[in-house]
Amino acid sequence: MKGILLAGGSGTRLHPMTLAASKQLLPVYDKPMVYYPLSTLMLAGIRDIMLISTPEDLPQFRRLLGDGSRFGVRFAYAEQPSPDGIAQAFLIGRDWIAGEACALALGDNLIHGDHLSALLRSAASGEAGATVFAYRVRDPERYGVVSFDADGQATEIVEKPVAPKSNWAVTGLYFYDKQVTDIAASIRPSARGELEITDLNKVYLEAGTLRVEQLSRGYAWLDAGTPDSLLQAATFVQTIQSRTGMLVGCPEEVAFRMGFIGADQLRDQAGGLGKTDLGRVLRDLADGVLG
Ligand code: TTP
Repeated sequence: MKGILLAGGSGTRLHPMTLAASKQLLPVYDKPMVYYPLSTLMLAGIRDIMLISTPEDLPQFRRLLGDGSRFGVRFAYAEQPSPDGIAQAFLIGRDWIAGEACALALGDNLIHGDHLSALLRSAASGEAGATVFAYRVRDPERYGVVSFDADGQATEIVEKPVAPKSNWAVTGLYFYDKQVTDIAASIRPSARGELEITDLNKVYLEAGTLRVEQLSRGYAWLDAGTPDSLLQAATFVQTIQSRTGMLVGCPEEVAFRMGFIGADQLRDQAGGLGKTDLGRVLRDLADGVLG
């Protein structure tokens, strides 16, 4: 399975921070925001990753991430000339996806929790259809909202409803089978002029092939699209890391734990991070000091 990391958009809710800088390169505590969804894709076992961003910001992502070898993955890069919707990622990536199954992670979403890797690997295991995740939130009207029947089956998804029928928001992490590029090509722009990911999900829902996994409250799902949520995400990462000494959303660590890179490569990466806490934790991990 391939994976797209979508890191374009206009980031208007973070103006003026995003007037001259990409939202997904802003810091979330000690790492650039895009490291978190990148780690999520890697935890799913995905090693072919296309990063999509604006023509202005793409060079900075190349500078940060390179060809991916330091994380044991391969990066491809593509421009989204204007923010015409999340589902457009599959049209931009169509030739690169080349008829394979493909996941999509939004560049400003952070998911953290126990056994996440197993959950993600099962979503990426290549069954026909699509898998998305739903998370209970207090402000569902900001998201795609999914309703369930008494058996826990998804019945309906509505994008940014004025009167939400449930509190279950669809998170920014999606796994699709190889039909995804054809389905993305078949949907039409919404009233706000965007190719909506919710419309793509509805095609799978109506075909009876959409799995919606409810993330229990043991998981954290945060998006960092507003000043408050950006600060909350940073505080969350700082709290977990300083309390446990373990890292959240660190692609070097994920690469090592997934077997994408070995201890020597990890040590090199740690060296590049100099005297930072991050570098120290990665060195301990390479030396077998951390379990
Ligand atoms: P949003 O947060 O919905 O939009 P935005 O990032 O443009 O921000 P704002 O609402 O403040 O103007 O987008 C969710 C994610 O998807 C985010 O990481 C940006 C990305 N995105 C794109 O890359 N291209 C797009 O066309 C859209 C709509 C979003």
